[in-house]
Order: sequence, then structure tokens, then C-alpha cells
Amino acid sequence: MQPARIAVTTPSRAYTVAIEEGAIARIGHILDEVQAPKRRFIVSSPLVWRLHGPRLAQALTDAEPILVPDGERYKQLPTVTRVYDALVRANADRASTLITFGGGVIGDMAGFAAATYLRGVALVHVPTTLLAQVDSAIGGKVGVNHPLGKNLIGAFYQPHAVVIDPTVLGTLPRREFRAGLYEVVKYGMTSSPSLFDRLTRERSAIFSREPSVLTPVIAESCDIKARVVSADEKESGLRRILNFGHTAGHAIEAVTKYRRYRHGEAVAYGMLVASELATARGALAERDRQALADLISGMGPLPAIADVSTVQILEAIRRDKKVVSGRLHFVLPTAIGATAIVDDVTDKEMKQALKRVGFAK
Ligand SMILES: NC(=O)c1ccc[n+]([C@@H]2O[C@H](COP(=O)([O-])OP(=O)(O)OC[C@H]3O[C@@H](n4cnc5c(N)ncnc54)[C@H](O)[C@@H]3O)[C@@H](O)[C@H]2O)c1
Ligand SMILES: [Zn+2]
Repeated sequence: MQPARIAVTTPSRAYTVAIEEGAIARIGHILDEVQAPKRRFIVSSPLVWRLHGPRLAQALTDAEPILVPDGERYKQLPTVTRVYDALVRANADRASTLITFGGGVIGDMAGFAAATYLRGVALVHVPTTLLAQVDSAIGGKVGVNHPLGKNLIGAFYQPHAVVIDPTVLGTLPRREFRAGLYEVVKYGMTSSPSLFDRLTRERSAIFSREPSVLTPVIAESCDIKARVVSADEKESGLRRILNFGHTAGHAIEAVTKYRRYRHGEAVAYGMLVASELATARGALAERDRQALADLISGMGPLPAIADVSTVQILEAIRRDKKVVSGRLHFVLPTAIGATAIVDDVTDKEMKQALKRVGFAK
């Protein structure tokens, strides 16, 4: 399998995403290539470190691991402080590189530590969940939750490199794997009919997690995210298309207090809602809506929604960040691989779409 290299070129930094079976074993070379400063610190979680740490430690002989918990409820400033404490105790200076080794929680938290420690030290992401590999490790958003809201504290801070090894996905719980795949469905539906078809065609090989099958799927997803982020680093325009499925998705997560669904699962529902709404408007062909619904249902069951209130979802949507000056910017699918951003979605349309997907009255 050919290694894939994808360039991300934002105004603040240009960097490479390397996707390769066995990339972890080669990480020393990759870091030297990008001239990552020599003192290397790894931030990981006890679980990820137990499963995959030995391989990384072998490839980076003198790197020191800092282990912090990685549940969403630990994605808070006190955990970042533990990273600062370890860096200060080790006298980490500007000539240090912080390597994040974990899912999106570790990447966001440790990325925020890297952005702020000494006003910024070099950062390299080595994401270990599918979601982090195709989404959170690319684009430079780092940060933590506030007790009163998700991702309220953060920064844009681009890494020096992203190193993706699909073999680590072998140990990911099936539900986490699927949750990441829904973001891949999002890339297909917004930007790539060929990726969409590949997901349909190669479903069982993808689920068996063969690195040779996963590598091109991850690479195309990263390529789409990289292109969007390169064109719009700080989410003023084009980057909004990546919010497809996230209007209802974020609201579903908020209404259920981030407990019942993985983020990707809520996004799967959000994509179904957006496509119902688009079809009802005549903006999306029924056969394309059905293809999306079939792809999602073919990936396995989603947690139930029949008791989740449509009224509460509508309220949560009104409080969303995607409402700018009182108008909701909504990503409407118009075909497989194409979208339009509209700002005239009415409550009535949204309510009808939610009900058609199966939410409660
Ligand atoms: N920065 C961004 O642009 C961006 C984008 C999307 C999501 N996010 C953030 O990402 C977070 C979610 O990330 P996530 O879905 O990766 O969740 P996560 O980091 O909580 O990881 C999920 C679980 O998988 C475990 N795990 C990680 N790698 C594993 C492996 N290889 N084998 C077995 N278990 C493994 C973790 O220990 C954890 O229990 C959210 O906080 C979200 O806000 C950020
Ligand atoms: Zn998402």
C-alpha cells in the first residue's frame, strides 16, 4: 500500500498529514523530516498507552509520556493543568514537541496545552480513533469544555504534522468505529460521490478494519477536510459545509446531555434530518435521500430517538453557534457530493423533518 501524504496549507502554517500502515514505527523519521524540535513529550490516556504505547515508545526512545484521563467529562481546564504541571516539572522549553496520542479528547486538550504553554510549542497529532483521524486532528481547532458548555474555551493552533496509522483502529470499540464512519459519510455526502460509493461497496472490508482498505478511505476524508481548512482556516465560509448534519446533531447531543449518543451518531441523525428537509423542499432527489438513509442504516443500529422531544431540539437549535445575527446557516444537501448553504429554514420545516426521521412530538 502506498503511503498517502496530504498537504494542509493554512495562512498560519503549512503541514503534512501522513497516512500509512505502520506509520507509528516510522514516526522518528517523520518528525525529523518536519524538523520537530528534539525534546519530545507524549500526551496520552492510560488506556491508549496500554494498548499502543509500547510501539510509540519504541519508535521514540527518549520521549516522556504524560498520561491523563480522556473521557469527555475530563475535557476540562484542570486536566490541561496536569499537562502544564508535567511540562514545567520536566523543564520543557521552547525546543520541545508535544505529541498527542489518543482520540479527539486527548488531541483537543493536549493541543490546547501546546498552544498555550510558553505561548506555543510544536504540536504533532497521532490520532487513535477514526473520528480523530478523519476529523479532529486536522484543522487546528483545540480546546476544552466549560462546565456550562462544550468547547467554549479554545484556540486555532495548527500542528507541525499529523501522523495517522490505521492499524491502531483494530482495538477501537465497534461503536466508536461506527461513530467515526458517520463523519466519513458526511464527507462523501457533501463533497465526494466516489467516497460515498466506496463506503457502500466496501462496507464489510471497512468493518473488518483491514488497514489496506481503511487507508484510502481515511486519506480521502483527510484530503477533503484539508482542502476545506486550507481555503477557510477560521470557519468564515467554505468550512461551514463540514457542519452538514451538525445543526440537528449538536441539538440532539445537547438535549440528551451528551450522554446517550456518540457525537457521530447524533450527526448521523442530523444528516437524516437535513436530507428529509432538503427533499421536502425539492432541493434533493428522493433517490439520493434514500441512498444516504440506506448507507447509514447499513452500518448498524443507531440508539433510539423516539422519546427525544422535537420541541426541545428546536429550542437547542435556536441557541446554536451556527445562528449568526439571528439567522441559522443551514447546510442543505442537494445531491450526493453537493450542498448549498441556506439561511431561510423555518421552524415548521425543521419540525416536520425531525418527525419524519422519528423524533417525538
Ligand atoms: N478539533 C476538532 O476540530 C474536533 C472535531 C470533531 C470532534 N472534536 C472533539 O473530539 C472529541 C471526541 O473524540 P473521539 O470520538 O475520538 O473520542 P475520545 O477521545 O473520547 O475517544 C473515545 C474512546 O476511545 C478510546 N480510544 C482511543 N483510541 C483507541 C484505540 N485505538 N483503541 C481503543 N480505544 C481507544 C478512548 O480512550 C475513549 O475512551 C470531542 O471532545 C469533540 O469535541 C474536535
Ligand atoms: Zn462532527
